[in-house]
Amino acid sequence: MDDFETSLLDETPLQSRHSEPDATPAAKRVFIKTFGCQMNVYDSERMSEALQAEGYVETSDASEADLAILNTCHIREKAAEKVYSDLGRLRDIKRDRAKGGKDTLITVAGCVAQAEGEEIVRRAPAVDLVLGSQSYHRLPELLARLRNGESALVETAFPDEDKFQALPDREPAKAASAFLTVQEGCDKFCTFCVVPYTRGMEYSRPVSSLVEEARRLVARGVREVTLLGQNVNGYHGDGPDGRATTLAGLVRHLAAIDGLDRIRYMTSHPRDMSDDLIAAHRDEEKLMPYLHLPFQAGSDRVLAAMNRKHTGADYMRLIERIREARPDIALSTDIIVGFPGETDEDFEATLTLVKEVGFAHAYSFKYSPRPGTPASKMEGQVAEGVKRERLERLQAVIDEGHSRFNRATVGRTLPVLFEKTGRRDGQLVGRSPYLQLVHADAQPDLIGRIIDVEIQAAGANSLSGVIRGSK
Ligand code: SAH
Ligand code: SF4
Ligand code: F3S
Repeated sequence: MDDFETSLLDETPLQSRHSEPDATPAAKRVFIKTFGCQMNVYDSERMSEALQAEGYVETSDASEADLAILNTCHIREKAAEKVYSDLGRLRDIKRDRAKGGKDTLITVAGCVAQAEGEEIVRRAPAVDLVLGSQSYHRLPELLARLRNGESALVETAFPDEDKFQALPDREPAKAASAFLTVQEGCDKFCTFCVVPYTRGMEYSRPVSSLVEEARRLVARGVREVTLLGQNVNGYHGDGPDGRATTLAGLVRHLAAIDGLDRIRYMTSHPRDMSDDLIAAHRDEEKLMPYLHLPFQAGSDRVLAAMNRKHTGADYMRLIERIREARPDIALSTDIIVGFPGETDEDFEATLTLVKEVGFAHAYSFKYSPRPGTPASKMEGQVAEGVKRERLERLQAVIDEGHSRFNRATVGRTLPVLFEKTGRRDGQLVGRSPYLQLVHADAQPDLIGRIIDVEIQAAGANSLSGVIRGSK
């Protein structure tokens, strides 16, 4: 899996982003490491932009950072524990730098900050600031307080003001594709999940501020936006007329922006897959034929215990309706194995569903008990070895479906949005409408353009092809 594909919820830490060479040697440096979902990637970008306004430049080297931020994820135990090993490393850096007379401020942001608060400074006293996911706009003010001698600040309230409005306008780096958080939080309370606790209740940003942000992105060369939300298809932001707008309505507003050619969204809940959104996949040319729709488990008994409020049959019917509207749509999903009480038979139902749908892509996870969630206290916790074995079997079926989907595009000519240069000289990398990575030999001036590519071969994780024309 490549880094762009870290879906809502791969726990692999992303590489910290590299900064431009620094023109003013006296500038302060900030190191940001991002864990978890795209929502965190977006938040890190916004924090970085807010800090630029404060005179910081980004660095990918933690040992030269005046400010180090870990933007954390709490979704599974492994993700949360990684933060503490990184904090150990940062503590050593802080000590070494102090010997040279340099200060290092350590900040823990994101979902571990929100979930653990004070506990973080108890466990890792080198931490200067714990900053919950709703308080990023307060970062400059909190840093000033630290510089004035305050210490171990913990800011994890869900403030009344809208953090998006309070952050400075976006001046992002030039890129062909960008994330745009449109909705945050979740009221679904699936029994395994920490998101409702770390991100709070569902909140949708108003259409006007999203259209404005998208316009600004397009002016900087962005051709594609991915609308982000923990429950993005539950979007219900205020429209220009003051009435609540659906996600399909928001897509129509964004599709009217000249120069914005591709719109994607994630992550969706099956319960909120409304008729108008399904119809948008038929009618709205700019809406890409790709849908990430987690189903979590195939067994109705397990789905009920998860509080998912849909059955396997509901999910299959939904898929049929979506495919009627857009027959070529690429489907992807999230699946959990080893939820408390899951039997071999329950697990077989998951495998059956995966085979029946034929996903282009899927993320699968071993159930990880999370503190404070109902499922962590349920009877019938499944042994680690059983979870591992189920995950392996499931991943083999997922991989087979993934290759089948990719092979089926060989011979077709697909419009590819080129995003960057490839590893090999003279090669560019882009995305097909189905979010597949595509490599082709092409001049760098095609970056940021959508070009027809005839797909000639399918590898394990990407396609390769030759240029056939431009748009
Ligand atoms: N809002 C999305 C996804 C949020 S969390 C949804 O409704 O599906 C992303 C994925 O992480 C989930 O889809 C789930 O598959 C996985 N996940 C969440 N909590 C987990 C846990 N406790 N153990 C293992 N996987 C989990
Ligand atoms: Fe978590 Fe469920 Fe909400 Fe998704 S819908 S974020 S899995 S509680
Ligand atoms: Fe992780 Fe928080 Fe995203 S828990 S998955 S970073 S919403």
